[in-house]
Amino acid sequence: MTDKRFLHGQWSSRLAFILAASGSAIGLGNIWKFPYLVGENGGGAFVLVYLLCVIAIGIPIMMAETMLGRRGRQSPINTMASLAEEAGANPLWRYVGWLGVLAGFLILSYYSVIAGWSMAYIVKMAGGFMDRVSTTDTQQTFLDLKAASDIQLVWHTAFMGATLLIVSKGVSQGLERVTRIMMPGLLVMLLVLDVYAAGTEGFGQGMAFLFKPDFGKLTGESVLIAMGQAFFSLGLGMGSIMVYGSYLPDHVSISRSTAFVAAADTLVALLAGIAIFPVVFSYQLAPGMGPGLIFETLPLAFGQMPAGSLVGSLFFILIFFAAITSSIALIEPAVAWLSENRGISRPKASLYAGSICWFLGIGTLLSFNAWSNTTWFGRNFFELVDFVTADILLPTGGILVAIFASWVVKTRDSERELELGPRYVWWQVLTRFVAPIAIAIVFSHAMGVL
Ligand code: PHE
Repeated sequence: MTDKRFLHGQWSSRLAFILAASGSAIGLGNIWKFPYLVGENGGGAFVLVYLLCVIAIGIPIMMAETMLGRRGRQSPINTMASLAEEAGANPLWRYVGWLGVLAGFLILSYYSVIAGWSMAYIVKMAGGFMDRVSTTDTQQTFLDLKAASDIQLVWHTAFMGATLLIVSKGVSQGLERVTRIMMPGLLVMLLVLDVYAAGTEGFGQGMAFLFKPDFGKLTGESVLIAMGQAFFSLGLGMGSIMVYGSYLPDHVSISRSTAFVAAADTLVALLAGIAIFPVVFSYQLAPGMGPGLIFETLPLAFGQMPAGSLVGSLFFILIFFAAITSSIALIEPAVAWLSENRGISRPKASLYAGSICWFLGIGTLLSFNAWSNTTWFGRNFFELVDFVTADILLPTGGILVAIFASWVVKTRDSERELELGPRYVWWQVLTRFVAPIAIAIVFSHAMGVL
């Protein structure tokens, strides 16, 4: 193993790792994406498949990825290369790391545009625009934002700039503090919205939509989307958690930390769903309206609350923080590799990587206006990038990580790293057989979707 691993920093504690990993997991995926995917894919049955994917595929792979990171103690590309060498396996395994860098770039490119929307909404809320609004107002406001590529570009640039500023300073500084405040804040805010939702007339209908499975609505494609969302939301399959694992001190329990992160991530997504669907039904809106869902519904709730502008702007500020702690994780594998292998300073590496993402993001923001009718395989630019990353690249990365960690890495080593005791067998069965086979089945059922 090269001496690069000794250049590597470490988290100060178990809590620091948990905070960073939860920061990576909890983001737009939970609050923006999960609800609209549930809405588009028919509700309860989708939620159930999602939960199954988190438990049977997500958590074991999260443990695997963290373990590989800690053993390799380098950027994902170098970690995969040196662990493959250590195990006497094919050097081609390093391409799993490259796959992750590619997926991270592509995801961040659109992630930044959507995070830009939430920044725009901080200002709209604070300006009191949303006080006592009607559904037509919120729909119009969102349509106007989607139509304005220049305004979206400003916010997209601002968000990417903020990400790069933090990443260039190094991962642990700042990140820990932001997450420590952001997470409890977000939880409190979601609970406030849930209490509000519980008092609306659409509450029963919203809860039934979310939790009563109607398997008739489940298609091969929606199962693929549920699985892709599990990877996306947990932040798996692209090396983020591997990088964070590489900073993890040896004595920390991987299984307990990852279980906590997965539970927190799932809780936040469900709380977001509980906040949104009752409002959707109270105002007779369509649950399947797509990416605008939270932007068109939540302002209605804020408009009815006392101090709605304040609560609303605080909420979008928290979403901004949740997004930025995820965007850091998306770009970190590339930045870590550039500074390790190319000797480029962190600020420069962040700038290079960030510029590529920024440029790609322009395609996404145009897909909501000028390019909205330009499609490839029936999808516009944003939809295509989203589909290729969440539904193809992340599960592919996940399958490879599972196979590598359970078949290539020696049992003796993984057993020692994971410290699962007798439960180790479960992990082994899940990563050796259940996860790869399930992913392969879902892939093959969804063939023809592209
Ligand atoms: N998990 C993040 C979210 O839910 C997004 C993300 C995906 C972060 C992949 C890191 C890696 O918003």
